[in-house]
Formats: sequence, structure tokens, C-alpha cells
Amino acid sequence: MTTKQNDRMPIIAGNWKMNHDHYQAIQVTQKLSYQLDKTDYEHVEVVICPPFTDLRSLQTMLDADRIPMALGAQNCFHEDSGAYTGEVSPGMLAKLNVKYVIVGHSERREIFGETDETVNLKVKAVLKYAMVPILCVGETLAEREAGGAEAKVAAQLVAGLAGVSKGNIATLVVAYEPIWAIGTGRTASTEDAQAMCAFIRKQVEEIAGVAAAQSLRIQYGGSVKPGNIGELMACADIDGALVGGASLDPDDFARIVRFG
Ligand code: PGA
Repeated sequence: MTTKQNDRMPIIAGNWKMNHDHYQAIQVTQKLSYQLDKTDYEHVEVVICPPFTDLRSLQTMLDADRIPMALGAQNCFHEDSGAYTGEVSPGMLAKLNVKYVIVGHSERREIFGETDETVNLKVKAVLKYAMVPILCVGETLAEREAGGAEAKVAAQLVAGLAGVSKGNIATLVVAYEPIWAIGTGRTASTEDAQAMCAFIRKQVEEIAGVAAAQSLRIQYGGSVKPGNIGELMACADIDGALVGGASLDPDDFARIVRFG
């Protein structure tokens, strides 16, 4: 396991997307917990982001079995309550001991039309309930090939963090997920991933100062697997991973938590 030269606790989060009903969720999480021990949790914060319908079952199980994994949600609405058919509020998630909420995942932006403005509202709403947003940013392949990757990510950060206090920014997680690497088996090269994560930290420094930039954690996401997590985690500015496909399998996910 790599020892990092900073105080940031590594964070590995599994984004199950629309997979695993609540029975499967319990089985998979139990299997995962059998493979992890105290030392793993001392080195890495382990987060499971299941579908909404699994949250209550997992909360009960983690609590009863005293499993030190954190729960995350994949999305939420920004209002506290009201006539918003089909939406889930941040307060409802906080009541279920949800600690993290993924905000602005590229699938939400591309399939469900979320914009930088709605993402910003959600970031603030999540913070209001003392949960931590995992703010997703990342460029398309066309944007990267046209040399516009940094500009895209910088704009997403400025808009996503507008009006958020420096103190709150310091606690955030940003997930850099190049869209062309999600679910494609194509990972960004370690050099490109590190370069963009360093760029993100620099941008956050401009927005919120050195202290916030040094304490904020940055994840890489996009086809993370047991075979590539080690080299990603060895990078100075990569503090963790947001893992999609490989998080569905408890054996693979346990290896990722152990950095391979
Ligand atoms: P993937 O998904 O690991 O399946 O590429 C990552 C994500 O979308 O968070």
C-alpha cells in the first residue's frame, strides 16, 4: 500500500448506478465486509453509493454489524420538501446516515439534462444537511481532442462551487471523470489523470485558497479496476477513486480498496 505525503484520507467510493436491488445490496455488501479488515478501514474511507431503494437496508445492516463503511447516494434534489414528484431531498438522505452524495455525475448531466446551475444548487443543498458532495467533473473525448479539457473542467468547478464557503470547499470531494473513460474500459493514462487532478487542485486554490485546495480530496473515475488502482493511487494529487462497473463485484472492489 502506498503511503502518501499528505494528510488526506484516501476515499474509494463504489457507484453502483442502477444495479442491485436491496436483497442483492445486502449480499454484496456482506461479502465485501468479510474481505476487509480493521487495517483497511484505517487506511481508506470505503463508501458505497447504491440506488435509493437500498439505502435503508444497508444502513440497518452496517449499523447492526458495526461495519465502518460510509453510505453515499447517487443524486438528490436541491429543495427540502414539496411538490416534486419522484425526487428525493437531501434531508431524507441525511436521516438515513448518508454521508456522501454524488452530484453532477456525467450520466446525470448527459441523460437527465443537469446543468452547472442545478449542480451548484445540489452542492449547496447537500452541504446544508452536513453531508459531503462528491462533485463530478470531466470532459468529453471531443473536448479533450480539441484541447479544451482544462477549460471545461475549470468552468464546471467555478460554476459548481459558486457561493460555497472556503470552509465547505475544504471538506469536499471532487471526482475527475473523463467521460470517454466511463464504462468503456479505457482509462486515462496515469500521467493525464494526475495532470488533470493537479490542475483541479490549482483551480480550487484560485477559488478558495491554498488551505482548502490542500485538504479537498480528488478522486479519479473511469474504468478503475484492481489492475490500475495502484498506479493511480501513487499519484500525488489523486486521493481516491469513484468506481462504477468494478464496484459491483465485491472481490474486485475489495482489491481496489487495497489498491490492487
Ligand atoms: P466505470 O464508472 O468505473 O464503470 O467506468 C465510473 C463512474 O461512472 O463513476
